[in-house]
Amino acid sequence: MRLTIFGATGRTGQYLLEEALTAGYEVTILVRDPSKVKIKNSLLKILAGNIQNAAQVEQAVAACECVISVLGPTENKPIYEISAGTDNILAAMKKQSVRRLVISAGAGVGGPNDSPALFNLFINFLLKILSRHVYADMVQTVAKVRASDLDWTIVRVPMLTDDPRTGKIQVGYVGKGMDVRISYADMADFILKQVKDNAYLHKAPAISN
Ligand SMILES: NC(=O)c1ccc[n+]([C@@H]2O[C@H](COP(=O)([O-])OP(=O)(O)OC[C@H]3O[C@@H](n4cnc5c(N)ncnc54)[C@H](OP(=O)(O)O)[C@@H]3O)[C@@H](O)[C@H]2O)c1
Repeated sequence: MRLTIFGATGRTGQYLLEEALTAGYEVTILVRDPSKVKIKNSLLKILAGNIQNAAQVEQAVAACECVISVLGPTENKPIYEISAGTDNILAAMKKQSVRRLVISAGAGVGGPNDSPALFNLFINFLLKILSRHVYADMVQTVAKVRASDLDWTIVRVPMLTDDPRTGKIQVGYVGKGMDVRISYADMADFILKQVKDNAYLHKAPAISN
């Protein structure tokens, strides 16, 4: 089975790429700087490019069966690159008739099933003040994916850590017994599982350790 991963050079993306290849998936990645990719594997196809380039995004998506995006804004500037790039991903998937899309976002991007506690509201308040544009970019990205008619799952995460994989992942909604952190490795595990699992189709669960 063929996957396309966007954000494969990121902290989560590196775990995800390694796990996908170990699991035997054929993986295409579109990366701004191919020298960041240290893995060599015959199942891996590396394309150099940018998600802002619609033609490059379409080339990356062609012939895949599932798209995963663990893209994240790298700067807190009003450039909203991730949501603009997501427009290209959604258009490319439509053109190439690819239906399954799994993306990541911060848990601070609310969902209809959340019951945020005071603590969650306080963290969101800080996020909106300190990382206003990052937050806005994520909110716009999630809204675009929700509005698409694709088979999407939005995996929402709290603070990410370098802790080792535990395999113990809580899945639920914000304010309902969730912890405030999850490791990159566990997040990557959960995201990869969604490729063949439709339990969270058209849902945006929050996960934590
Ligand atoms: N880190 C956290 O504590 C945290 C908390 C809550 C939610 N999240 C969410 O979790 C996800 C993963 O986070 P992370 O910390 O693993 O991300 P990260 O390490 O910041 O990686 C972001 C990835 O996006 C890529 N990217 C950004 N702009 C791009 C562009 N214009 N074209 C192509 N690629 C682009 C980066 O590529 P380059 O390598 O080229 O820069 C990198 O691969 C994201 O959705 C993030 O919003 C993270």
